[in-house]
Amino acid sequence: MNVNMWSHPTVQDNIRKLRSQGVNIIDPEEGYLAEGIMGKGRLAGFDKIVESAVKLTHLQQDLKGETILITAGPTCEDIGPVRYISNRSSGKMGYQLAAASQSRGAQTILVSGPTHLDPPAKVELVTVRSASEMREKVLQNWSRSSILVKAAAVVDFKPREFSAQKIKKNLQGRCLDLVPTPDILSELGRQKGDRILVGFAAETEKVLENARNKLKEKNLDLIIVNDVTQEGIGFDSDANAVTILTRDGKEFNVTKRSKREVANEILDYIVALKNRHG
Ligand code: PMT
Repeated sequence: MNVNMWSHPTVQDNIRKLRSQGVNIIDPEEGYLAEGIMGKGRLAGFDKIVESAVKLTHLQQDLKGETILITAGPTCEDIGPVRYISNRSSGKMGYQLAAASQSRGAQTILVSGPTHLDPPAKVELVTVRSASEMREKVLQNWSRSSILVKAAAVVDFKPREFSAQKIKKNLQGRCLDLVPTPDILSELGRQKGDRILVGFAAETEKVLENARNKLKEKNLDLIIVNDVTQEGIGFDSDANAVTILTRDGKEFNVTKRSKREVANEILDYIVALKNRHG
């Protein structure tokens, strides 16, 4: 294309959007353009195109033979027919993990709380609403999975009782009686066997310390730490930045990039663990 077309803000916005959705783009190259001027716009060399395609195809193979169970999105704990308790999770991180896992050859099961996202192609989607439903569907699919990644933001508390009618503001007390929801990841940690178990931690304070405790208490192989106080990452954004903590005390920082790229970084660590497990 012409250099002015390539550098146009609308084209660049669209390129950024596609990249954030995990599309691989080979940039045009610099050189003489059809108009006789120099600039960025020439079709990339065929060697470069072939090399990029081969690289992608290789990426697709390293999870072949694995069945990965991924959870995504929030849960919703209904108070009554009108209101519910939930959180700010959009599901984007978990959906990108599922898309990346599928494209790297794994059979991928995505257990998702309510989101507005389209499921990635060829991924087995199981939709749920509450933490209890998520637990039930995860346990149903657990025995055929070799790897579990729990990116869902499960609500920790639900109302003790479901009100069959809408609670009127002037008729009821202002306190909600809450009880804990099942801690799905802890339950899986107690029966993980030789599966690879990966959790997420969304933290606002003592970020690494709290995440390390979760890694240990939930018997995980890896925990992906999200500092959700930072702007432009974490909940509902297209980008993320995380720290990956391992069981043997190692710590890796993944700087801000698209959620698809973060997903692939996480899968790289999982592949490395898998190879070590034999
Ligand atoms: O969905 P996005 O908008 O893309 O945002 C991504 C994200 C910030 C939601 C995600 O990256 C993330 O951090 N997910 C985990 C959020 C969370 O619930 O963290 P937690 O620290 O409360 O829970 C720790 C782990 O235990 C998580 O893997 C969680 O799935 C699991 N858990 C928690 C409670 C519970 N009752 N059962 C669980 O299994």
